[in-house]
Amino acid sequence: MPREIITIQAGQCGNQIGAEFWQQLCLEHGISADGMLEDFATSGSDRKDVFFYQADDDHYIPRSILVDLEPRVISNIMESRFGNLYNPENVYLSQDGSGAGNNWASGYSNGERVCEDILEMLDREADNSDSLEGFNLLHSIAGGTGSGLGSFLLERLNDRFPKKLLQTYSVFPNNEDSSDVVVQPYNSLLALKRLAKNADCVMVLDNAALTRIVADRLHIQNPDISHTNQLVSTVLSASTQTLRYPSYMNNDLASIIAPLIPVPKCHFISTAYTPFTSNNSDKAKVVRKTTVLDVMRRLLQSKNKMVSTAPSKSSCYISILNIIQGDVEPTEVHKSLLRIRERRIAQFIPWGPASIQVALTNRSPYIQSQHRVSGLMMANHTSIASLFNRTLQQYDRLRKRNAFLDLYRREPMFADGLDEFDSARDAVQDLIAEYRACESESYLRPAS
Ligand code: GTP
Repeated sequence: MPREIITIQAGQCGNQIGAEFWQQLCLEHGISADGMLEDFATSGSDRKDVFFYQADDDHYIPRSILVDLEPRVISNIMESRFGNLYNPENVYLSQDGSGAGNNWASGYSNGERVCEDILEMLDREADNSDSLEGFNLLHSIAGGTGSGLGSFLLERLNDRFPKKLLQTYSVFPNNEDSSDVVVQPYNSLLALKRLAKNADCVMVLDNAALTRIVADRLHIQNPDISHTNQLVSTVLSASTQTLRYPSYMNNDLASIIAPLIPVPKCHFISTAYTPFTSNNSDKAKVVRKTTVLDVMRRLLQSKNKMVSTAPSKSSCYISILNIIQGDVEPTEVHKSLLRIRERRIAQFIPWGPASIQVALTNRSPYIQSQHRVSGLMMANHTSIASLFNRTLQQYDRLRKRNAFLDLYRREPMFADGLDEFDSARDAVQDLIAEYRACESESYLRPAS
């Protein structure tokens, strides 16, 4: 029985990365832009039904809800070649269509106003599943809609579907880009509180690291959002590969999350990928020899990591899951794993075993890959706390100047005061403290 996953894409970023994700899934499963199975798509070892269902005429429909408070991005998707793929009943567009103006509080209060319509869509999709496993929220934390309305939905989903897993793919802002949203520290902090309290697993996608990889590894001058979104789509597709091409392990979300997140509070996962290639640049076209050991080693190098963190001497891995794709013998995986462990290339928590797991997965038969082996690392690492710390510092600087607070005071949640900011700050501070505590040998010892 499939363990279905419903995807919610909220705001500009959520819908743009969602559109890339569905295009990639269609390519990998031999589904055409209008949902029909391609003539060549005959082999049946994949599991399309985790992410798609079939209409009465057999065409495939994504289990996806598209939400935005302004029409531009969703209209572009619906007018694109893939416009007919989505169920038009699963699109929520705000009637007045002016967006949340990069204001978390506006997105959140719009969420309160419109959530019944969205929850009705989610209920319908949930009823349409045999054995729903959970939800994926795709969004950015820096703007208004994906961040604020996304936060509201996370809270409501927890109440409505308490037994279902809530996973998010959350895009963090590029703090080196001065043209990014000025109030992003406010929005990010407020969203982080919900990610910490309401999500089971947060896949962190950091625009700063993604932009760096596009420039340094793919050698693309003047990278734009479409280049970063190709990387995001690679992460989304590889991280769901074992669900869609199942083998005997890691074939549902729970079995991926459980070993990665031994401490429920520390559920922020970073990713790395190798090898990167692109047809857009000659330098990035070079194909090299790949082996499992080589891929596993490269996944541990900081240049391949899709999150910019500042590791300290004490930072360490809590756990690692490598998804290795390609035509590989299990013995090659086993030997490589032993070698990585022997060499102690990665530093692990002092209070538990060095948890490096490997999932071997098949590739789509419909896409040619230049590399024999490729890999995605999903890692739970304590240095992720430095990303939260950066948000906290940026927030403190903005708040000290009382900058832009009027925009928030206009919204119901802040009409009587700014307590919610203090509460979110405390939640993020607690999260940082929990990750720091994980670095200590005495973490599991009860306080005397
Ligand atoms: P409002 O515009 O306020 O209604 O909210 P929104 O959720 O639509 O905002 P948006 O998603 O545009 O959030 C802004 C943040 O997302 C900024 O940090 C952008 O750099 C980032 N962003 C926007 N679109 C994309 C995208 O397609 N890909 C990536 N990687 N980041 C994006």
